[in-house]
Amino acid sequence: EKAGFEHFMMKEIHEQPKALQDTLNSVVRDGVIDLSEMGLSDEEIQGISQIYMVACGSAYHAAMSAQYVIEDLAKIPVRVELASEFRYRTLLLDKKGLVVLVSQSGETADTLAALREAKSMGIRTLAIVNVVGSSIAREADNVFYTLAGPEISVATTKAYSTQLLACDILAVQFAKVRGAIDEDRYKGLIAEMGTLPEKITRILQDKERLQWFASKQAAAHDVFFIGRGIDYAISLEGSLKMKEISYIHSEAYAAGELKHGTISLIEDGTLVIGILTQSDLYEKTVSNMVECKSRGAYLMGLTTYGHYNIEDTADFVTYIPKTDEHFAASLAVIPLQLIGYYVSVARGLDVDKPRNLAKSVTVE
Ligand code: F6R
Repeated sequence: EKAGFEHFMMKEIHEQPKALQDTLNSVVRDGVIDLSEMGLSDEEIQGISQIYMVACGSAYHAAMSAQYVIEDLAKIPVRVELASEFRYRTLLLDKKGLVVLVSQSGETADTLAALREAKSMGIRTLAIVNVVGSSIAREADNVFYTLAGPEISVATTKAYSTQLLACDILAVQFAKVRGAIDEDRYKGLIAEMGTLPEKITRILQDKERLQWFASKQAAAHDVFFIGRGIDYAISLEGSLKMKEISYIHSEAYAAGELKHGTISLIEDGTLVIGILTQSDLYEKTVSNMVECKSRGAYLMGLTTYGHYNIEDTADFVTYIPKTDEHFAASLAVIPLQLIGYYVSVARGLDVDKPRNLAKSVTVE
């Protein structure tokens, strides 16, 4: 049942190209996106004043990335919230807003409660869900099914990746329908999404190098993941993977924020992983990495082929294939999943069933 892999997590990491391909195939026809099965009309898409994305855990991290992509491509303001916070504050939701719930299981208690709260206020709800017929899928006005297939490992990998892709698909379609991008750009973005599965396969072929790196870092006490923009959103997910399956304390920081306090935690040998997939932010994050290095940090850089001057700064570098930078999270997360996995294995931990965690969180 693990298809020759030692753990479900590794099997599911390798299922990501197929999960992305299946999700794409479900909505892309003849090179254009068709969301008619979701039941959201072009007029409705044009009328959206504001998007509220609500989720927990990794799904929240996918939503964090989506915020940058949707705002930049579709020019719709996006607010991202943890479901456990959203439901307990004074909600001043715009009636013409769209509440997007992101949930693999479709059963997460706080996300389900947030959905009910939004519905009771008469706001349209759209759920991005993996499990067909789950509570959130049944109750939302519109559903976008991710086609990741069943996920057994407690730590999410392929479901998260399909959530990212679903958000990217919405961003591209919303951008087109609202006239924020032209036909050429639209077709180009869809074609680029079509290259992601093969690019992920290429990253997976290089996994032994990451295994070696992870074995060297298995005794780490603290790890910091830093990045800006989409790279910050990826940092959040990389850090969560490290914590939940490796039991190593780690933090994700918006790179520019470190110097406002947290940099005091950097000491000799502290591992700092800089994520650098966004060209216009590249130099800024490199300079934050240099600040860490001068305090003794051991630096890993995760960037795109071509950015070779990172080798002057980082002690270890991993490259991902080039893609449209809006979609970089889909590629950059793969090495981070692998590092979390290999560190967990090197520490002899129960990768698929980490302590204190359940696959689906149905308590508030
Ligand atoms: C982390 C993880 C969790 C879930 C979170 C939300 O690897 O799996 O953080 O992402 O519990 O679960 P869903 O998506 O089912 O609502």
